[in-house]
Amino acid sequence: MTIKITGTGSTLPEKKVTNFDLQELVETSDEWIRERTGIAERRISTGDTVATLSAKACSKALEMAGKTAEEVDLILVATCSPEMLLPCCACQVQDIIGASNAAAFDLNAACSGFLFALNTAYVYMQAGIYKNALVIGSEVLSKLVDWSDRGTCVLFGDGAGAAFVEASAEDIFRDNGRKVGMECMVQGSDGTKGMVLSCAERSVDNAFIAEKQTISPYIQMNGQEVYKFATRQVPACIHEALDKAGITVEDVDMFVLHQANVRIIESVAKRLKADISKFPMNLDKIGNMSSATIPVLLDELNRGGRIQGGDRIVMSGFGAGLTYGATVIVW
Ligand code: COA
Repeated sequence: MTIKITGTGSTLPEKKVTNFDLQELVETSDEWIRERTGIAERRISTGDTVATLSAKACSKALEMAGKTAEEVDLILVATCSPEMLLPCCACQVQDIIGASNAAAFDLNAACSGFLFALNTAYVYMQAGIYKNALVIGSEVLSKLVDWSDRGTCVLFGDGAGAAFVEASAEDIFRDNGRKVGMECMVQGSDGTKGMVLSCAERSVDNAFIAEKQTISPYIQMNGQEVYKFATRQVPACIHEALDKAGITVEDVDMFVLHQANVRIIESVAKRLKADISKFPMNLDKIGNMSSATIPVLLDELNRGGRIQGGDRIVMSGFGAGLTYGATVIVW
């Protein structure tokens, strides 16, 4: 059996917010933000929701795969910023695109969410439960950001990416002898470090409590702890995935990493002793979009012709939870 990505799609809100725009809001500078993060601008929603962004990305992925919405078996939306708790975002997407035959649910593993969702879809297909899935990473983080907190507001952006994943009965091999599909996945979590990067939803407010708690609804982050976690855990889990697949860093054509910070990506490349040219980046233009970063970058690379059949790609992410993961696929 081969399970492969046959369509990708992505969408970004139109509104661009540059570092210079942020200088008007908080005490920061373009130089500081670029130096510490590599980010120059990000897209911010002025009306789009996680569901509408998801639906736009899905339509593009379906079009590329040559499929109709009615043919979709499963919709998985990875998000940590849905507008609604009920119904879940995946059901809203189902409604918007008209995927009337799909099962749909959300999954929250923060910035690792797209990988966790992709892995989940693969497992469903390997078990023969579904033949295909739309896997989406979508965020409107701008509503979770405290725009007076310079430590976080400079980092995040909004957007969505989707992948259409299909199973076929026979094995497919590329000219270089590699078998198409997922070779290996590693995913993990460390809940003991959960409060290093957090965002509360709402406090308990019922007739049975004496005093109502007040909580901040915004992202709280200890940047240095996240940085340490990412630079240690991402290379470790990539090594674990490569070991499991029985391959080495040299056998990988491209590392599609979570786009949080250029310094984190450079540090991962250094620790892996891999050439930085194998680490495509787009975070300068769109910042950190949590679960959306990997599928948006994947779509850019795919549509730009930078991924060829037979290429081996390692996707790896980390984020709140804390969560992390690495997935090895042959395109
Ligand atoms: N503009 C200017 N100064 C800023 C600033 C900003 N936007 N944000 C913080 N500062 C200041 C701090 O207040 C601090 O000032 P002080 O020395 O007077 O106290 C100084 O810059 C250094 O802050 P620090 O937090 O030590 O900076 P840093 O080098 O660790 O960089 C991050 C901060 C957030 C860029 C970095 O820690 C990081 O990228 N961490 C990972 C975060 C991440 O990726 N999160 C998402 C995970 S999915």
